[in-house]
Order: sequence, then structure tokens, then C-alpha cells
Amino acid sequence: MSKIRIENVCKEFEGSMAVKNLSLEIADGEFLVLVGPSGCGKSTLLRLLAGLEQISSGRILQDGNDISLLPPRERNFSMIFQNYALFPHMTVEQNITFGMRMRKEPKQQYRARVDRVAELLQLGALLNRKPGKLSGGQRQRVAMARAIVRDPSLFLMDEPLSNLDARLRNEVRDGIMTLHQQLKTSTVYVTHDQMEAMTMADRIAVLNNGDLQQIGAPETLYAHPANLFVAGFIGMPSMNIFKLPCQSAELWVEDQRIALPDTEEAKNLSEVYLGIRPEHITECSTEPEIPEAGYLYLQASVTHRELLGADYLNHVSTSLGGLRYLRENRGEAPQKGQQVRLRFSLQDLHLFSGTNQQNLHRETHHA
Ligand SMILES: Nc1ncnc2c1ncn2[C@@H]1O[C@H](COP(=O)(O)OP(=O)(O)O)[C@@H](O)[C@H]1O
Ligand SMILES: [Mg+2]
Repeated sequence: MSKIRIENVCKEFEGSMAVKNLSLEIADGEFLVLVGPSGCGKSTLLRLLAGLEQISSGRILQDGNDISLLPPRERNFSMIFQNYALFPHMTVEQNITFGMRMRKEPKQQYRARVDRVAELLQLGALLNRKPGKLSGGQRQRVAMARAIVRDPSLFLMDEPLSNLDARLRNEVRDGIMTLHQQLKTSTVYVTHDQMEAMTMADRIAVLNNGDLQQIGAPETLYAHPANLFVAGFIGMPSMNIFKLPCQSAELWVEDQRIALPDTEEAKNLSEVYLGIRPEHITECSTEPEIPEAGYLYLQASVTHRELLGADYLNHVSTSLGGLRYLRENRGEAPQKGQQVRLRFSLQDLHLFSGTNQQNLHRETHHA
């Protein structure tokens, strides 16, 4: 049982802020994923939680107790790194039990725990092997076993999959998820890969430049990104974004009017960002049929295509600029120069302020 609360935490390195006034909570049993581009402060935040770095200001609470100044060994958290170092001269079992042996725990005390963890991670048959005789995925499972066997109150994982090839990555990812379902240990998992975040997280916290951008369920971040950064970061292929002029809370796309939310803020804007996801755009008949209310239509010309498998990602030019959308692969490749008429629902449109890049609908959608 463990509930962690990070309150107004800052971390400064030689005058530059790696983590800026960050607050969030990790619920008991939650799988929280920290995601953001390289250098945004993910590892720093994890190391602050682990106690490997000292916070510059703020507090970290565990079940209401301030643990900000506790040394790492008194926090009972387990950390799993990208570069998991196993001792090459020790067997799998000796690697797993290293910490207990260092603390001189009697063997009969941890024997059952080791067996359970070995079974959970399917390492039972490998206990007497040395790491050199294991595959990459098996080695990563040993590193996990070593972290789990301590029965920590919180797991901290820093990009544990990024050194594995694609197939192994899926295998180990499934392993981590199965494990989490069984153990229900609160976990903070760091990745730069939004896809990993979307597939694994109970909630995702998006960081950029040391700033928390948004925290919420994957579905919430996808449907209601709080700002332009989250909009562009979450979702693959990424959202089409256009910066357009607006006036009196309306903008025009060809001869079609888009109304901004009826707010003072929107009335004063002279520019907005318009976002539409590739998967929300569909082709319609090239014959200019009567436009349906609630939809926006665009004339487009195919510039190139990417075959993704079941779909093509079509790149087209439009009056808004270059745009990408998904088109079902029906065994017939779209041709360069081909004219298409596209449409999307105004409900799938995302609008962000041209000045502060915040979602203009944000007041109605809290995570
Ligand atoms: N020990 C350190 N000393 C100085 N700067 C650091 C140190 N650790 C991290 N940083 C800086 O803090 C920022 C965040 O780094 P990090 O947390 O490693 O990012 P991420 O894990 O998201 O890639 C970077 O600008 C990095 O250069
Ligand atoms: Mg990192």
C-alpha cells in the first residue's frame, strides 16, 4: 500500500531548472507513465522519487509522511533502469538474491519469495545459469526479478525497454503488465515513447522542459489535449496542426466558417491553431455534393503515400497546407497528383490559442 504525493517540487542543476514546480499524485496500485521528449526531466523526477537526487524545493510525501530527506535505502522503492547491470560471475539466483545476502537475511526467510518471483517471471529453469548464457529479454526479466523480490512499495522504471529489439520489447512489455496486474504495486514508468505510454498507463503525465503539461487517462489526453504540445505529442500518426488567422471568434477555411468557443479570450485572438488527427479525416466523393452541416470539406491533391499495412498514410496538399490522413488499403495505391475531396467532423477539431497554445475548450474538459 502506498500513495505518493509530489508537491511543488523543483530541481535545479547549476542554475538550470530540470523540474519546475511539479505537483502530482500516484495512487495506490496505479501504473503512472511519465512521458516526454529527451531531456524534459523524466529521469530527474524518477531519481528525486528514489532519493538519488535531492529536491531543490517542495516536498515528497508517502502516505502522508514527508520522505523528501530520506536516503534511498530507507524508502523501500525499487528502481529498474534502461541499463540493468547484472553480475556476470553470479548465477541468476545469486543475482536475484544479492540484496538479501548483502543484508544477511537468512535464506529460509526469502526462499519462498524467490521461488514465487521466479515463477512469475518464468525464470524457474534458469536459476543456475549465468547472465552470459541468457537472451536480452531473459536478462531484463532477471533485473526485474531482482527489483520485485524486495517487495517494494513503489516501482520506478526508467525506459526499461529501450535497449531491446521490437519483438522483445513487446514480450517484456506484456510481462511488465501481467506482473502489475498480479502485484498491484504502484509504479512510475518513464518512457519517451508515447505509444508505450498509451498502451501501458492507467494515467499518463506529459512533461516538457521540466513542466507538467497534462496528467490523465490515455483516452483523455488523446481526446482532450490541454495544449498544443500534448496535442502534437500524443497520437500516432501525429495530429495535423495549422496556424490560422481569426477575428471576432471565427475563422474561415475556404468559404466555410468555424466558430471559436464563445469566450472573451477567443474574441480577442487574432490567431488560432487548428488541429485534426489523420484518423479523423475521410475521403468523400469528388463530386461537390451538398455539404453536410457539422462537417468541413477540403479539396486536396495527393503528394505522396506511406503504406502502413491496413492503411495508407496519404500526404496531400490543401489550401491549409500539407496534411496527412489515413485511407484504408483496398489493394489500390493512391497516385501522386490524384485529386481527393476530404471531410472531417467539426467535433473532431481541436482549437488552441495562437498566443498561449492552450486548448480553447480546456475549461470543459478536466482530466
Ligand atoms: N546531474 C546533472 N547535472 C546537471 N544537469 C543535469 C543532471 N542530470 C540531468 N541534468 C539536466 O537536466 C535536464 C533533464 O534531464 P533528464 O531528467 O535526464 O531528462 P530525460 O530523462 O527526460 O531525458 C537535462 O537538461 C539534463 O541535461
Ligand atoms: Mg532519461
